[in-house]
Amino acid sequence: MAILDKHAVLEKNVTLLAIFAFLVVTVGGIVQIAPLFWLENTIEDVEGVRPYSPLELAGRDIYIREGCYVCHSQMIRPMRDEVERYGHYSLAAESKYDHPFQWGSKRTGPDLARVGGRYSDDWHVDHLRDPQSVVPESVMPKYGFLENRLMDGRYIEDLLRTHRMVGVPYTDEMIANARADFAVQVDPDGAWDDMVERYPGAQVRNFDGQPGISEADALIAYLQMLGTLVDFSTFTPDASR
Ligand code: HEC
Repeated sequence: MAILDKHAVLEKNVTLLAIFAFLVVTVGGIVQIAPLFWLENTIEDVEGVRPYSPLELAGRDIYIREGCYVCHSQMIRPMRDEVERYGHYSLAAESKYDHPFQWGSKRTGPDLARVGGRYSDDWHVDHLRDPQSVVPESVMPKYGFLENRLMDGRYIEDLLRTHRMVGVPYTDEMIANARADFAVQVDPDGAWDDMVERYPGAQVRNFDGQPGISEADALIAYLQMLGTLVDFSTFTPDASR
């Protein structure tokens, strides 16, 4: 076959082979990657997804600081065993305000993408203090010190501003109210209406059950909202994309 004979030329000349291999990879790469630059939106908009409230965002920072992601993923794969154990598979939109994302693939502990509302705040307090007290075979370390570390929210505006720089649509109003919103989320007796209007579905409680805003408050507020923003009883995937 004539064409195969020509191919033999390539196989015998390393430089020529390298050039042609480079061309093939370039064309393949462009075909895969280039369309993404022109697609207006590669993530479908999903109702309910909103930026994190200041307290949740602070909790997320603690989650990252403490390396919780080393043992926990936050992405439910669309496989039957995962969906039966953890709930609806994760949507891209659910992590669109995550910088950096927390998907992960290392699971020493369970996936946490939908852990919100699965346990009571008290359970989380006990579990963080001493995981083995609620799950005897757990290898999770103790994080009881978080309850004793109080937060004053001094940097919370900067935190929101930083996330706005990387694309999270925090408004000027959200940033101006960040410190007050941060504090009011642990104060059910406070004037939290405006905060909940800015962050629909935000849960207002004294998460760790103790006076003051502790790092445990922020972390539990974050854990309790994970996976709760989208109402899957009404969600239908957009098949037009
Ligand atoms: C060394 C690995 C490791 C680290 C680090 C770790 N965990 Fe865990 N985690 C586990 C294991 C194992 C389990 C399952 C047993 C249990 O519930 O304690 C677990 C369970 C959990 C659960 C219960 C999940 C469920 O669906 O039952 C939560 C919530 C949790 N971890 C939160 C955290 C947070 C928050 C951090 C960081 C402050 C953290 N973990 C750090 C290993 C870890």
